[in-house]
Amino acid sequence: MNSENISKKILHWYDNNKRFLPWRKKVYKKQREYFTLVSEFMLQQTQVKTVIPYFINFIDKIPNLNSLAKVNDNQLMRCWEGLGYYSRARNLKKTAINILKDYKGKLPNTIDKLKSLPGIGDYTSRAIMAIVFNKKIIPLDGNVERILKRVFYLKKEKEITKEYLTSKKYFFGTSNRSSDYAQAIMEIGALVCKPVNPLCLKCPISENCISFRKKDFEIKTKNKFNKIKYFEAKIYEKNNKYLLIKNDKFNFLKNMPIFPMQEVKEKKYKFSNNKKINIKLSNMDMKIILNKIDKFPNLTNKILLEKDNSQSKILPSFTKKIFRSIHKI
Ligand code: ADE
Repeated sequence: MNSENISKKILHWYDNNKRFLPWRKKVYKKQREYFTLVSEFMLQQTQVKTVIPYFINFIDKIPNLNSLAKVNDNQLMRCWEGLGYYSRARNLKKTAINILKDYKGKLPNTIDKLKSLPGIGDYTSRAIMAIVFNKKIIPLDGNVERILKRVFYLKKEKEITKEYLTSKKYFFGTSNRSSDYAQAIMEIGALVCKPVNPLCLKCPISENCISFRKKDFEIKTKNKFNKIKYFEAKIYEKNNKYLLIKNDKFNFLKNMPIFPMQEVKEKKYKFSNNKKINIKLSNMDMKIILNKIDKFPNLTNKILLEKDNSQSKILPSFTKKIFRSIHKI
């Protein structure tokens, strides 16, 4: 394979087919850093189409690193409400504070320094290095991994190691447009090399793709079975008011308002006659008993939720889901 040709084809495709995404707007350097930081945090667990309106609103309300470092937590959560994984928002603010304190307001330009900032891991540091600093680095997300698996016909689950990527350097472009190149590969993964029914006729590198030649596009992915955990949520209701608490107990939804709850044994879950619901989080499937109680307990950190304005409050979708289903009890 000729690397120059591959990168030319990929960049040519990108120039003609890339989506207009608000964080790709042409802006000056400092704003590019801020746009990339915010968008990459949002994109960590969320799809592009969901992120777009949140990103636009976020930049409108919190337009730069200084305002982010100073924003009050309520307003920050309001901008994040509905996106989920709220620790991302808290980490984003902490990262802004650190960048102002330790790096004079400029994003650091090494992977190690980026990874030392809250909420920035391997993927996000690589994305920032490529997109902001135009470094020849490809962030390896699910989309990019799928392209590599198809182009090189990798059938084992774990074939894409760091060593593998280094040995296939020629794939990663000879052009000096590394920022565009990284985004182009992500874009081909999202728009063309789809998990099922890839659009090979639209792909700029189908003739370089072994899977295309073999007409075998199947991808081996990890079978990710989430652990099932059982919980009982206490739904205290009095005069159309519900009791929530700030979560300082569970690792998920840290510091967010949730119904008081505790983990229970499978047996208790099975034999309970109360209404039950299932909620999937990224790392576990929760099976929850909803236990309605009409007396309020004496708790110190309680938050009262009015029946009527429940949906407008800053609530994680987890709590809203439970709230919606108790109205059907
Ligand atoms: N997914 C993660 N980062 C992305 C980006 N910058 N553009 C599109 N999709 C992405």
